[in-house]
Amino acid sequence: MSVSTNGRVAVVTGGASGIGQAFAVRLASDGFDVAIADLRSADDTLRLVREQGRRGYAEKCDVSSHDSVRTFAEGVQDALGRVDVLVNNAGIYPATSFLDMEWEEWQRVMDINLHSLFRFGKAFLPGMVDRGWGRIVSVSSTTFHSGIPNNTHYTASKGAVIGFTRSLAAEVGRHGVTVNTIAPGLVRTDTTEAGPQAALFDLLAQQQAIPRTEEPSDLVGALSFLASEDAAFITGQTLCIDGGWVRS
Ligand SMILES: NC(=O)c1ccc[n+]([C@@H]2O[C@H](COP(=O)([O-])OP(=O)(O)OC[C@H]3O[C@@H](n4cnc5c(N)ncnc54)[C@H](O)[C@@H]3O)[C@@H](O)[C@H]2O)c1
Repeated sequence: MSVSTNGRVAVVTGGASGIGQAFAVRLASDGFDVAIADLRSADDTLRLVREQGRRGYAEKCDVSSHDSVRTFAEGVQDALGRVDVLVNNAGIYPATSFLDMEWEEWQRVMDINLHSLFRFGKAFLPGMVDRGWGRIVSVSSTTFHSGIPNNTHYTASKGAVIGFTRSLAAEVGRHGVTVNTIAPGLVRTDTTEAGPQAALFDLLAQQQAIPRTEEPSDLVGALSFLASEDAAFITGQTLCIDGGWVRS
């Protein structure tokens, strides 16, 4: 069944750059109006969304702050009226060995990568349930499946995203809301290009069934599908999109 997305609204956290920007633009081209919650200016993403003929809204938002998320949610409600699709994408991935890791860094990773799902779910799930339709898609990582060094906080947070997805899916399926996770492999973004991950691009590509470096554009089709009417009976799932690095 094909149902128009016109009038439907998506929120993408961390949509000012990288994977989140690619997600925002694809959702706009699919017909969603798009709101961006990011610490950085989302002007570039807003322009790309509007070029697709959709409405865009952005406000500086720290996903690790209850107050900031509450203010953002009020702004989206005023500007776009509703939220039908929530993409929990914002995340950080500092590479630190566990022996050197301070509690503050552990906590910050959890606050941004995991606890933000609580804040945004609380803000937008009730409206989806009331309207009997919604999609929540969160971003995990296949580092959860593989386990790589210097990522204990990150890997734990991304595993928890999968647990959150499975349990929430079981609660809200009867209300027409699906909850799924996309798990990318190592993706080329400005952040990975500038970080220690860049040294791993070629090595990891050779371990993948499809031996090239993953790009944000490799992920957008899966999000588009999971947000669509065609995926209405798929929930609680994790889709690994990493060129066949892990085979879950
Ligand atoms: N790039 C990869 O290799 C890769 C692999 C697997 C999973 N992921 C996940 O994909 C997501 C996006 O990664 P990316 O590579 O595009 O990252 P990125 O750094 O390019 O973009 C992340 C965005 O999130 C925003 N952000 C960070 N902290 C925030 C906060 N507290 N509040 C609001 N916004 C915040 C940043 O400003 C940035 O715009 C993350 O969850 C990441 O863990 C990335």
